[in-house]
Parts: sequence; structure tokens; C-alpha cells
Amino acid sequence: MELRVNGKPYSVNCDPSEMLVWVLRDDLGLTGTKMGCGAGICGACTIHISGVPVRSCVTPISAAVGLEITTIEGLATILPDGSEKLHPLQQAFIDEQVPQCAWCISGQIMTAAAFLKENPHPKPHEIDTALENNYCRCGCYVRIRAAVEVAAKELEASA
Ligand code: FES
Ligand code: FES
Repeated sequence: MELRVNGKPYSVNCDPSEMLVWVLRDDLGLTGTKMGCGAGICGACTIHISGVPVRSCVTPISAAVGLEITTIEGLATILPDGSEKLHPLQQAFIDEQVPQCAWCISGQIMTAAAFLKENPHPKPHEIDTALENNYCRCGCYVRIRAAVEVAAKELEASA
């Protein structure tokens, strides 16, 4: 099956019903996407398909053929000199020292990235609502919200 991930084409030899999380991690080596509950509940495995956040643990690869898949590895911008500029959310999660174990973080960032595209000037309670189905077992919710607020300001300043 032909997939397009982070702007690159891939050919994978998998059953169409295989879940994307395993194809991304095991076949393509994109281990930034994490497996948590495996039931579409916790949000740890969130990626984008055509810019829409989806839970890759319950999304078969057949649902993504012909569409653009973006993972946390594809969120940064590649500059003309080949270096990488982190997405403002990635930078803010570092600067605000959000992660504890970090297992939930790529899912938090991918969900927040899609949210900020639709809601560039979010109020704190809107951030909480947008991320309420992304669970952080370490309880980093206050820092997660702070990082999203910082990233929103950065995105606005660079628009
Ligand atoms: S691992 Fe996919 S939602 Fe929890
Ligand atoms: S940082 Fe550990 S689950 Fe969120």
C-alpha cells in the first residue's frame, strides 16, 4: 500500500486493516507516535490525516491511503539550509518544561496544533476543552495549557 507521511511517499506491505500506529512505528520507524490505551480513548497516538487529528491506534491504514499523514516528526519546518525549526508548540513544550514521562506529549502537541489552526486566539478554558480527551497520566495539565498559550502567541507574532 502506498502512503504519504510527512511529505514523503512510502510503500508498505501490510494488511489494509492494520492500525496506523503500528505501521508508523514498526514499519516506518516513526516512533514519536506513542501507543497508550489502544482503544481511541487517551489520545497518545494522535496524528493528523489531511490536517485533522485522528487516533492512529483505531485508524486502519486503508483509511489513510492517498491522504497526507503528519506525525510529530513532520511538524517542524525544514529551512532552506536543511536545518529544522521546531513548531512553536514543540518549542513551547520544551521551554515550559512540560513533559514528565513524555508518553502523552506528541499526542498533546498534535491535538493542540490542529486546534490552534482553527482557534488562533484561544482562551485558557478553550485550550482545556480542546485537550480534555488527551490524558496525561503524569498530571502536567497546567504546564500543557501554559505551553499552548505561549505557542499561540508565538504563532500570532510570526503570522
Ligand atoms: S493509544 Fe490511541 S487513543 Fe490511546
Ligand atoms: S507527561 Fe507523562 S503521561 Fe503526560
